[in-house]
Amino acid sequence: LNPLFPCGIYVKKCPFEAISIINLPSNLEKDTTHRYNQNSFKLHRLPTPRPGEVLGLVGTNGIGKSTALKILAGKLKPNLGRFNAPPDWTEILTYFRGSELQNYFTKILEDDLKAIIKPQYVDQIPKAVKGSVQQLLDKKDELRNQDTVCEMLDLKNVRDRNVENLSGGELQRFACAMVCIQKADIFMFDEPSSYLDVKQRLKAAQAIRHLIHPDKYIIVVEHDLSVLDYLSDFICCLYGVPGAYGVVTLPFSVREGINIFLDGFVPTENLRFRETSLIFKVAETATEEEIKRMCRYEYPTMKKKMGNFSLSVEPGTFTDSEIVVMLGENGTGKTTFIQLLAGRLKPEGGCEIPSMLISYKPQKISPKSQGTVRQLLHEKIRDAYVHPQFVADVMKPLQIDNIIDQEVQNLSGGELQRVALVLCLGKPADVYLIDEPSAYLDSEQRLVAAKVIKRFILHSKKTGFVVEHDFIMATYLSDRVIVFEGQPSVKAVASSPQTLLAGMNRFLELLNITFRRDPNNFRPRINKLNSVKDTEQKKSGNFFFLDD
Ligand SMILES: *[C@@H]1O[C@H](CO)[C@@H](O)[C@H](O)[C@H]1NC(C)=O
Ligand SMILES: *[C@@H]1O[C@H](CO)[C@@H](O)[C@H](O)[C@H]1NC(C)=O
Ligand SMILES: *[C@@H]1O[C@H](CO)[C@@H](O)[C@H](O)[C@H]1NC(C)=O
Ligand SMILES: *[C@@H]1O[C@H](CO)[C@@H](O)[C@H](O)[C@H]1NC(C)=O
Ligand SMILES: *[C@@H]1O[C@H](CO)[C@@H](O)[C@H](O)[C@H]1NC(C)=O
Repeated sequence: LNPLFPCGIYVKKCPFEAISIINLPSNLEKDTTHRYNQNSFKLHRLPTPRPGEVLGLVGTNGIGKSTALKILAGKLKPNLGRFNAPPDWTEILTYFRGSELQNYFTKILEDDLKAIIKPQYVDQIPKAVKGSVQQLLDKKDELRNQDTVCEMLDLKNVRDRNVENLSGGELQRFACAMVCIQKADIFMFDEPSSYLDVKQRLKAAQAIRHLIHPDKYIIVVEHDLSVLDYLSDFICCLYGVPGAYGVVTLPFSVREGINIFLDGFVPTENLRFRETSLIFKVAETATEEEIKRMCRYEYPTMKKKMGNFSLSVEPGTFTDSEIVVMLGENGTGKTTFIQLLAGRLKPEGGCEIPSMLISYKPQKISPKSQGTVRQLLHEKIRDAYVHPQFVADVMKPLQIDNIIDQEVQNLSGGELQRVALVLCLGKPADVYLIDEPSAYLDSEQRLVAAKVIKRFILHSKKTGFVVEHDFIMATYLSDRVIVFEGQPSVKAVASSPQTLLAGMNRFLELLNITFRRDPNNFRPRINKLNSVKDTEQKKSGNFFFLDD
């Protein structure tokens, strides 16, 4: 028996990092918090919220985060696994006796605590409510703070618009605002950063932390690990098998919790739930001179006007096995630049872009295909999807097998994203343009997708251009970066590709935030505003990592 695993757990080794824990540790059985039915999903243990602090939850989708939120919101009575004969509250409270949860549930019952949840899928909001942003805010304006909240969440300009006319990012900010203006005791945010760019993610995080109060509970589920890090005061990880069971770990400090998640190993339980850990060693090996010598392709200075927006692109070079990450606020022309490179837009003055074969994954994925995933793959990437190397490097890790016989129209957002990545990488090309690969993916899938892209570009000796707002993913992927700066939707400049350190430093300077790095796995961590490190790094101009 592998000494890493307490007895009772059997582990099936898979070719990639996916490990399935087949049997539960036997001591977990008595820790069942809720079970829907015989042979259906089981949740073991619960995260423990604390008043006056933000609890962050991290883990794969489908292992019980929503069930845990429903229970903690008092909307689902935990049955302790006895779906046939559910216990009453007296018994439930006895079960939690001596833990912080006893106190929590007692308060929910006796003080009638009110919970509000920001739902995960904000794109459903227009189906549920009608009216203008202002009308809807007015209806719930219990704290009389809507001006401050709208300012914080950048909603001033959309107050007159109807919810059905809001973009994904605007809906997200609106949904967060609706929670922040109401009187409640428990605030829950299910994935507040989807559809937001880096700057907006930090603003949303600040708005959430603004709710901190000695009597209030705040719980956040978040897949962007930098944002989770910035938001939370402590963290519980969830692990398990999607659709079968989930286990909640004890609470950890923020740093420890995220490192445990990245390591795939829970030291307190002596349990490994992923085969490999992720390390973010930032390679600053190539000098500018070496990069110049390596460069195989060039593109010229370009200008493009679209409506009221104008973009200038400084000239650049790129080479094989290189990933260039594009960083910038929303509306500074990243997608325009991609389309210029792809030849879908023509630059002004008719200068010629070198003709290259391009494969493009757009930001918005709207499937038109009426058939199954298999039919789509067969039609679009007939050779690649059965090629052993491609199957091992791309199809398997992205777990396409699980969905290959489903109809494309029936796929969830995350499933569509995985299929879109496969289609993009499966097409023969010189350059792969990948717009927001992390959208709709949970943190586990983001790590897998990042590794797949990195390995594919390296091994196929092609070039990748990637737009990515998840900072950890962007850092992991980048060999060099292009920084987009200017006034969103008006005028912006795209820099030449620069080294990761120089580029990140410039980007963070524009956002006025600083990062340090974790000494264990080198992952970037946002410094809290005006902390000692933040002040020190701003003073010395080291926005991205201070070498220690
Ligand atoms: C909002 O959307 C509706 C249809 O979805 C459209 O008729 C209307 O013109 C839009 N309003 C604005 C202000 O764009
Ligand atoms: C960026 O803005 C465009 C419209 O300006 C919107 O469609 C898109 O969802 C936004 N994306 C993000 C990540 O905010
Ligand atoms: C462009 O700017 C003009 C004047 O500032 C404004 O009236 C117009 O609506 C803008 N057009 C677009 C597409 O935003
Ligand atoms: C797709 O969804 C429809 C409606 O929910 C269902 O009838 C159909 O069987 C699904 N197709 C597949 C292949 O799962
Ligand atoms: C950046 O943040 C610091 C506080 O950390 C503040 O003093 C400074 O004015 C900010 N700079 C800009 C340009 O916003």
